[in-house]
Amino acid sequence: MAILKIARIGHPVLLRQAEPVGEPDAPDIRRLVADMVETMLDAGGVGLAAPQVHVPLRLFVYRLPPSRVGGGPGDEPSDTRVLINPVVEPVGDEQVLGWEGCLSIPGLRAAVPRYDQVAVTAQDGNGEPLRFEASAFHARVVQHENDHLDGVLYPMRMAATGADFRLFGFNEELSRLEAGAA
Ligand code: NI
Repeated sequence: MAILKIARIGHPVLLRQAEPVGEPDAPDIRRLVADMVETMLDAGGVGLAAPQVHVPLRLFVYRLPPSRVGGGPGDEPSDTRVLINPVVEPVGDEQVLGWEGCLSIPGLRAAVPRYDQVAVTAQDGNGEPLRFEASAFHARVVQHENDHLDGVLYPMRMAATGADFRLFGFNEELSRLEAGAA
């Protein structure tokens, strides 16, 4: 296993439409997934998409720490998961604001609108079909990572939805805002 270099915002690999994975259980894909998990954990992230490690393929890894999930249906804690060739569709129209960071935009975060519930189809690391619904934090992580496969970073999602860019900044500075608001 190896820790991979993470591309930062501005690198063209983050703006590409990623290609489908032909053989999810091929040895090179298994190795990539293992390296991405190690890289995500080393960086302290909750998700990492292949384009972020300079591989323009449609797959991502994520985890759902107990401290982050709400614990409701579709939002339970989970160890690392891999989704290959995912398709993510909103369930209902409701969007909610929530704080997001990104390993490709280090040190910053923002309040980003996302669908509260999504339906996901994908393949797992063995190439087996997966189908599930995700809600709340789980839905947010899946939408954020899936956006990476289409060359979309969260500030672009904010711009597309008319989000409030005053809620975009460095972690340390935003903690003042939250302290002031509380
Ligand atoms: Ni990201």
